[in-house]
Amino acid sequence: MDSLSPKTNQKPTKILQELDLKHHLHPFTDQKELRLKSPRIIVRGDGIYIFDNDGNKYLDGMAGLWCVNIGYGRTELAVAAKKQMEELPYYNTFFQTSHPPAIELATKLASLAPEGLETVFFSNSGSEANETNIRLVRHYWSSVGKPKKSIIISRKNSYHGSSMGAASLGGMNTMHSQGGLPIPEIIHINQPYWYGEGKNMCPDDFGIMRARELETVIQKYGPEKIGAFIGEPIQGAGGVIIPPDTYWPEIDRICKQNDILLIADEVICGFGRLGTWFGSQYYGIKPDIMTIAKGLSSGYQPIGGSLISTKIANTLEKCGGEFSHGYTYSAHPVAAAVSLENLRILEEEKIIEEVYKNTAQHMFERWNALSEHPLVGEARVKGLMGALELTSNKSTQASFSHKGQAGIIVRDICLRNGLIMRAVEDKMIISPPLIIQASEIDELVNLIWKCLDQSQKELKCQGLLVS
Ligand SMILES: Cc1ncc(COP(=O)(O)O)c(C=O)c1O
Repeated sequence: MDSLSPKTNQKPTKILQELDLKHHLHPFTDQKELRLKSPRIIVRGDGIYIFDNDGNKYLDGMAGLWCVNIGYGRTELAVAAKKQMEELPYYNTFFQTSHPPAIELATKLASLAPEGLETVFFSNSGSEANETNIRLVRHYWSSVGKPKKSIIISRKNSYHGSSMGAASLGGMNTMHSQGGLPIPEIIHINQPYWYGEGKNMCPDDFGIMRARELETVIQKYGPEKIGAFIGEPIQGAGGVIIPPDTYWPEIDRICKQNDILLIADEVICGFGRLGTWFGSQYYGIKPDIMTIAKGLSSGYQPIGGSLISTKIANTLEKCGGEFSHGYTYSAHPVAAAVSLENLRILEEEKIIEEVYKNTAQHMFERWNALSEHPLVGEARVKGLMGALELTSNKSTQASFSHKGQAGIIVRDICLRNGLIMRAVEDKMIISPPLIIQASEIDELVNLIWKCLDQSQKELKCQGLLVS
């Protein structure tokens, strides 16, 4: 593993780890397991790499948590934050007030979004934005005299955030089982996961079949009771589930025909992940609401939002009445200023265009080559998000009998080799910073191959492989 001294050497790693274990309850972490392994202490980043407190260098195959789209170490964003903090560090946007960063960011987003989405409600995260969406959908239908249209349809194995409403929209059983979720009036249909659930059909037919489950549920409850459908253009946290090409156009048709709002959760796909500004543009769908966060600021500041259609915005204005909803930090001026700078860099440096024209194609070719590895059942990639399905038997594509065991082994071996790759059960996923160069993609893929080789030996030793 490459080594570089950390920039700001603070306390020794051991002490930081002890303090962390004692005082910090981590998100999505088994604290008992954490005590056995100890946390990695990350201290800085540069481009597509991050460094831990001992100077170890890692290729960040996940862009943090799918968010550091422009890469680490862009001081322009720090300068934008400093300037805004000196000028107006905080003011709210409640009660008929606004400020220039909020106005400029909303205007910029309206110019980038698919046609017809011109208004933004700001929040601080993707979860909060989806909380907003639940309330907004219900408020909208009440405003037009259809308060019964309160059910929202989502998908199993989708991820929409971690707060009560957002986790309810999500289709993660492990999350639902903690705390009595989902909240009422959220229904989940099956996901368009061809490799895992549809291999006996041709992908296009499977895509149509899964989309039509939406129609079946609408017919069962009646369109007068359904307010919205929500989906990630490509499910990220569920394991980079790339839907068949037939899926989204059919979902779009069903929503429009039944007067149901379509919410595209663009928290991962937005801001260039697929080589277009938004995943909705990639798939040619016309959402009524888009959830945004992560890549909006490239993770340099916490910010999220809901981009809403002119139809919804105009209706709310015409009907009048307060939308009794908001966050103290909605459109926080520093987060907004940093986001504007991030969008400027994405645009002026043609980062998304480069993904579209070159990087995605190179990734596609290199990623597909990984399907030759004996541990890989399928290698799939779209833009700069990809997954490898691990298999215990290459010829039958069988999955491992203990779900997730192989994924953890591969993930830990990746870490030991200086690569951050996430395991979703036995799917290994990546989503690197969009600035990744062709030579760095080669480095990433070569590293993955090496880690898969080492993992294969380890899995064999543990008796988890058939051949
Ligand atoms: C599609 C999607 N929606 C919502 C969220 C929640 O965003 P946050 O973690 O900022 O609350 C995520 C986070 O990964 C996500 O992937």
